[in-house]
Amino acid sequence: MVDPLPHGGMIRKIWIGEAELYRDHLLRLDAVSRRSRFGGAVSDEFVDGYADLALGIGAVIHGFFLAGALRGAAELKPIGPPLGREAEAAFSIEKPWQSHGVGSALLERTLLAARNRGIKFLHMACLADNKRMLDLARKFDAELSFDFASVVGEVTAPRPTPLSLLREILADGHGFATAMFDVQARLLRPV
Ligand SMILES: CC(C)(COP(=O)(O)OP(=O)(O)OC[C@H]1O[C@@H](n2cnc3c(N)ncnc32)[C@H](O)[C@@H]1OP(=O)(O)O)[C@@H](O)C(=O)NCCC(=O)NCCS
Repeated sequence: MVDPLPHGGMIRKIWIGEAELYRDHLLRLDAVSRRSRFGGAVSDEFVDGYADLALGIGAVIHGFFLAGALRGAAELKPIGPPLGREAEAAFSIEKPWQSHGVGSALLERTLLAARNRGIKFLHMACLADNKRMLDLARKFDAELSFDFASVVGEVTAPRPTPLSLLREILADGHGFATAMFDVQARLLRPV
């Protein structure tokens, strides 16, 4: 179980139509965090365009909200061929909220979403030289076994179960029909 969130904070998915929230959050990252998040220095214009694209079809983004503001986010983005079983995960926590357990909570929810979508291999963006991200990933070694040299994690038991689906549905806090729509048909394909 991960650390509790900072008081008053909550995690929920970010939906299409909330790109502005995501963009503003990414633009608020300090220079070091922005570099770590994107694997290099990127301009405001790049971040601006990125937020719109990121919320495209197939990506699941969980956000950490405090007093209505988005202060952290975790992206789960399918990569490779359609219906492939690989995805990339990337995390961004604004500086004042780092080291308060937010990354851990976001990774837990991202792993649940990956499992429910049959993702077997998770590429952790910028993991190789990011000690914090490495330490964070290591906390989840029961659910994500890592070949740290290749920065690709293997999701343990990458199959949805009634319980794992229920956990995501309850966490989303909305109805079953909506959740099934979100989880998509690919969930039901044979693994
Ligand atoms: C890397 C990042 C996602 C971690 O999230 P976080 O909310 O700061 O991490 P947590 O508070 O959940 O801590 C997770 C673990 O990381 C390690 N950690 C966290 N802060 C640390 C610090 N200041 N120094 C060393 N280790 C640290 C600890 O091992 C910690 O485990 P513990 O709480 O049991 O001690 C966050 O710091 C961040 O967004 N950084 C900038 C962008 C980035 O690097 N993204 C990752 C690449 S895409």
